[in-house]
Amino acid sequence: MPKPAKHVFVCNQPRPPGHPRGSCQAKGGNEVLQAFWQQVQARNLWDKFSVTYSGCLGPCDCGPNVLVYPEGVMYSGVTKDDVAAIIDEHLLGDKVIKRLMAPESVW
Ligand code: FES
Repeated sequence: MPKPAKHVFVCNQPRPPGHPRGSCQAKGGNEVLQAFWQQVQARNLWDKFSVTYSGCLGPCDCGPNVLVYPEGVMYSGVTKDDVAAIIDEHLLGDKVIKRLMAPESVW
């Protein structure tokens, strides 16, 4: 298995309805995860990047959250429609997408 150049963690944490912290899964985290898996598969990028679902990454109120390493960049409020841009601009282009970055208060 080749070592991935980047590793994407997509928060898909569930919580019971009415939980005060809410959850990324309730806000579409699973759709984001499926879109990553679909596009990485369609573009045959599995030898370059890993995409893994994760539990809570911390800033639940601004999810769905996506964390990209090795840069340690957190994207917030990500939708399935943002996935192509993250792949094209960040994973392949090495450019952080400022409009999707988590608020500075997060990190
Ligand atoms: S539930 Fe996703 S960051 Fe907490």
